Amino acid sequence: MGAQWGDEGKGKITDFLAADAEMVVRFQGGNNAGHTIIVDGVTYKFHLIPSGILSGKVCALGNGVVIDPQILLDEIQGLHQAGISDQGLKISPNAHLIMPYHVALDHAQEDARSAKDSIGTTRRGIGPCYADKASRVGVRLQDALDKDLLRSRVEATLQPKLHLLGERTHAPELQVDHIVETYHALALKLSVYMEDVARLIWDACDRKERVLCEGAQGALLDLDHGMYPFVTSSNCIAAAACAGAGVDPRSINRVYGVAKAYPTRVDTVGPFPTKFGDSPMNTLLVERGGEFGTTTGRQRRCGWMDLVALRHAVRLNGITDLVLTKLDVMYDIHPLCVVDTYALPDGQIIDYYPYQADLLDQVHPVITELSGFSGDISGARSWDDLPHGAQEFIQAVGERAGAPVSMVGVGQSREQIITL
Ligand code: GDP
Ligand code: IMO
Ligand code: MG
Repeated sequence: MGAQWGDEGKGKITDFLAADAEMVVRFQGGNNAGHTIIVDGVTYKFHLIPSGILSGKVCALGNGVVIDPQILLDEIQGLHQAGISDQGLKISPNAHLIMPYHVALDHAQEDARSAKDSIGTTRRGIGPCYADKASRVGVRLQDALDKDLLRSRVEATLQPKLHLLGERTHAPELQVDHIVETYHALALKLSVYMEDVARLIWDACDRKERVLCEGAQGALLDLDHGMYPFVTSSNCIAAAACAGAGVDPRSINRVYGVAKAYPTRVDTVGPFPTKFGDSPMNTLLVERGGEFGTTTGRQRRCGWMDLVALRHAVRLNGITDLVLTKLDVMYDIHPLCVVDTYALPDGQIIDYYPYQADLLDQVHPVITELSGFSGDISGARSWDDLPHGAQEFIQAVGERAGAPVSMVGVGQSREQIITL
């Protein structure tokens, strides 16, 4: 699970943990996600395909994922070009498809918002697709296989959206005949991967195999528990694996929460209490950490480790293991700070994440200064290889966030992980 605002390094950690699992499952989000994995010097970027594919595991897209079929087919083709097998790929027939009008609507809605009201979505059609799903007018993969059903669904769904789409209504890709032909053909191509994902998971659990569920986005972007409306359109906490893939809640026994040593947010809006703002520290971390979105290329905002927000994520997800990534980026920063509490405008100190967005905008992070560490730690492979200042930071995070740190990332590659 992402324990912050996304881009914590979930892809890399999923790839690492997949070695010990038989099956890897995505259960929410769509191609708003971007997961970068580096293995043997080769960089892979996945938006929909679970990050376990590089380990040759069964990789499933559950019913809760929203699929842009062309994007997924492009990704599958990318696998073929890289010589990676797609044999283990499975797709739930109940997964909803992102249709061209969802993407157009996402653009139209973002363009119509003032800078103040902007959400800064990835413009991939995620929100409009989930909205149609909730309104029971969405198109599931299995629906698109029946041309007549697809046509009636598209006609009924598109009609009320036309006034919102304005000029875009005339675009060739938004004409019903075109949509029906194209999306039926795309669905046919994907149908070879169709399987009942929930049953695959239950069968694996019955065989006492390990199933690894890979979250997208992060706890603080969760539709219900993040700072609405600056959130994504799905639940991205551990419980969502149950609804989004059919996982039995009693079979979840470990929850890995991935957190960066410094949190980031890819949008320009949305509360972010510990952000550096336009400062040399922000520039330093953006450059060192390569903080540009995998999906949109937008620069990510950076901030000090926010333990108030992380505690919130630990509780929401039931995190049993924290994974701290990108510690290698924080060298030669003295002091190295963490934020344990927030000060309200009236001076009151709080140690919890407030539910009011305007309050979160006004809080002052109360900073605890740690000594920090010097030099390159990217070659460290054990606790003892780490300098004292790095150990102090890891211990502070684990103790104050409420879950032990069981892995530390010290670089982008698969082997640059310390297990504790
Ligand atoms: P995800 O969306 O959570 O999978 O994360 P992204 O892939 O979007 O962004 C994380 C970025 O950090 C990627 O470029 C990773 O290669 C990189 N990364 C992950 N873990 C580490 C780490 O421990 N150290 C460094 N330097 N980079 C890391
Ligand atoms: P991964 O899985 C970071 C953000 C967008 C925007 C908000 C809503 O790579 O961590 P949406 O397109 O979902 O309607 O946009 O959510 N967002 C992400 N930020 N990482 C992601 O995914 C994100 N997916 C969505 O920037 O603020
Ligand atoms: Mg990402």
